[in-house]
Amino acid sequence: MTHDLIKASLIIVLALNLTVMNIRKLLDQRFSLAFIEAGLPENAPTVIKPSSRPEFGQYQANGIMGAAKKLKSNPREIANKVLENLAIDDLADKVEIAGPGFINIHLKPDWLSNQLDTAMQSDTAGVSQSKNPITVVVDYSGPNLAKEMHVGHLRSSIIGDAIVRTLELVGHNVIRQNHVGDWGTQFGMLIAHMVDQQNESADLSVKLADLETFYREAKQRFDDDSDFAETARDYVVKLQSGDEQCKALWQQFIDISLQHCEDVYQQLHVSLTRDDVKPESSYNDDLPDIINDLDKQGLLTESDGARVVFLDELKAKDDKPFPAIVQKSDGGYLYATTDLAALRYRHHTLAAKRIMYFVDARQNLHLNAVFLIAKKAGFVADNTSLEHLAFGTMMGKDGKPFKTRTGGTVKLVDLLNEAEERAYALVAAKNPDLSDSEKKEIAHKVGIGAVKYADLSKNRTSDYIFNWDSMLSFEGNTAPYLQYAYTRIHSIFKKVDDYNADASIQLEAPEERQLAVKILQMEEVIDQVAKDATPNVLCNYLYELAGNFMSFYEACPILKAEKTVKNSRLKLAKQTANTLKLGLGLLGIETMERM
Ligand code: ARG
Repeated sequence: MTHDLIKASLIIVLALNLTVMNIRKLLDQRFSLAFIEAGLPENAPTVIKPSSRPEFGQYQANGIMGAAKKLKSNPREIANKVLENLAIDDLADKVEIAGPGFINIHLKPDWLSNQLDTAMQSDTAGVSQSKNPITVVVDYSGPNLAKEMHVGHLRSSIIGDAIVRTLELVGHNVIRQNHVGDWGTQFGMLIAHMVDQQNESADLSVKLADLETFYREAKQRFDDDSDFAETARDYVVKLQSGDEQCKALWQQFIDISLQHCEDVYQQLHVSLTRDDVKPESSYNDDLPDIINDLDKQGLLTESDGARVVFLDELKAKDDKPFPAIVQKSDGGYLYATTDLAALRYRHHTLAAKRIMYFVDARQNLHLNAVFLIAKKAGFVADNTSLEHLAFGTMMGKDGKPFKTRTGGTVKLVDLLNEAEERAYALVAAKNPDLSDSEKKEIAHKVGIGAVKYADLSKNRTSDYIFNWDSMLSFEGNTAPYLQYAYTRIHSIFKKVDDYNADASIQLEAPEERQLAVKILQMEEVIDQVAKDATPNVLCNYLYELAGNFMSFYEACPILKAEKTVKNSRLKLAKQTANTLKLGLGLLGIETMERM
């Protein structure tokens, strides 16, 4: 082999290995072996955790006490036995027993700096690719197209998008499905109103630019005028039987409504496009087939003329099985029927192994029923993972669902514009010398980032209170704080002209070691977020990372340090910035070089 070829093949090998170890997993493996050697039960949990204080090392193994209790023996004695059998010299320079039987692990600076170098060469901050990538369908956003998107669509859109980006980073084949509501009785009323407006020679495209008002007018007429309501119902029948003229009007409405959504996605930095839209209407032709199939399998019961699947698994308080209606007595189909067709499509056509629904917690019973029926009917495989990743409600200051001052629903675009305006005022006050277009661009990233981060950093399943002041603060666990930390690191590099990326990383000070370990923990954090769909875990991590950086920055001068130390610290700073940018990027939050 020529020299170049050898070099090339070495680079390929290196490229394949550009991922860091999941420290927690690695320690778990080592301790599991030592547990077995020490005579502990085979599946005794090692309980590896990051340490709470640097004096205790970087990680702790807390599983000894539990195992000792089961064996009814002395935990410190067992801890000693475990340590005798522990092979860990390559990773740790000190392992000690503390308290009743905790084990503190001090990781070796050399090993850490090697891992960091690996992370720095990869464009995923060292985060490793899944060993068994699968096809994952992610169902999120899913607005109803009869109206404009409102604040109720925020959580699904941004939480779903963060998880999509995370799953893609670790190498899964992710298929986004925007299950928009574009079919149903509301559209009859909208078409009827369109026809009348056209007859009155109003400019439809102008009228439809404000969908909210258009919807309200149509609804008002539907409620007040029985002739109009009658016409509206006729249009529904016509639409569903494929009437060309009706369909064309409906399509015009849908196109405009989707354009509204796309504008919101773009402003919100959500990655959904027109290609990801798989509307309810697209399943229309499958619905009779779904009913037939359920019937053939003996899953259907007639109840007051409707067709129902009774589910013993979902018993109500009265102990009666839950009735999932799949066809109404007038022959019409329901939301659930469409969801069954969607599941069948996602399994058969898209070949999904994992299907994730980012849908409001209030739809839990609906989705559970649909999942059960789909499994019983074989619309999905037994081992297809069906997950409802529920979320709570965004509340106003009064602790009630977020509304306008007059009690109406808040359009999402209005909320986002307000965020940008508020951020603009902050940016202008902080940095008056910026040009107006720069201020606007920064305000966009900060304002949108703040709204998203305030939501993503909360426990997904709880309700939370929306608060402008706290989300836009430059202190605390907020997007502006993290974005600012990123720009600060950037400004350090502006003062350096001799940065050497090949320098070795030295981890002498405890703050340096702590920061190094924190950077490397991105791997385990991503692992967890991809598994549990919990963006708040990533937010907390980024917040701690920024905090660790600040402590390091205070304790360890960078620019004044001697050359090798300076370069080592610059590398730590650089990798902190890379990790912050990657992490915020996964949350769909943009960073900037100055603000
Ligand atoms: N359009 C529904 C709504 O606004 C959400 C759709 C969720 N996805 C699903 N497959 N059901 O409530």
